[in-house]
Amino acid sequence: MDLKEKQVKIGKLRGQIASCTRCPLHATRANTVPGEGDVDADIMFIGEAPGRNEDLQGKPFVGRAGDVFDKLLGSIGVTRNDIYLCNILKCRPPDNRNPLSSEISSCVGSLDIQIKIVNPKVIGTLGNFATTYVFEKFQIPPEKISSVAGRVIDVETPFGPKKIVPVFHPAVATYNVHKTDLLLSHFQAFKPFCSDCETYPESIL
Ligand code: URA
Repeated sequence: MDLKEKQVKIGKLRGQIASCTRCPLHATRANTVPGEGDVDADIMFIGEAPGRNEDLQGKPFVGRAGDVFDKLLGSIGVTRNDIYLCNILKCRPPDNRNPLSSEISSCVGSLDIQIKIVNPKVIGTLGNFATTYVFEKFQIPPEKISSVAGRVIDVETPFGPKKIVPVFHPAVATYNVHKTDLLLSHFQAFKPFCSDCETYPESIL
């Protein structure tokens, strides 16, 4: 799929997400948070769900966890313009509670389409929920995130080979600063895949 086609398809998906009423979270959201970034990126990151700031702005990772995420990206020499970033849930769970399995199953159809359209070489799963979903999707035997964080796992998928890299959720560093060093070391796993990252001007993303 060429860049233009990807942009059109992602644009259409954004419209569908904006009007989604598949689960009760639509009633309490201020905005949907579909995801953003380079639709042709080699690396896609998947987080958990929008928080308060994300809900208000309609953008992923704009709160404190977002600051940590930007630092982690910086440590491997990339910016948000080089990657695609989205979440398991596109709407905020009230009071930032964990996503319910019914919400996940209502919502992941959009994520599956994002993975298919962007078709990244590498998928970074941020935290437990994204890791569990992506492991299940690609039939990787389940493991605790603490055992697999920072590991590069090769999988064959219907749309080509991919590398799955689970890491802790950046929010852990906002309540435990000691986890920052661990996250920084796990993020080094992405480094070999960053040399092809192209920085596109903001206007074409
Ligand atoms: N945490 C997430 O998982 N996603 C966001 O967009 C913000 C915080």
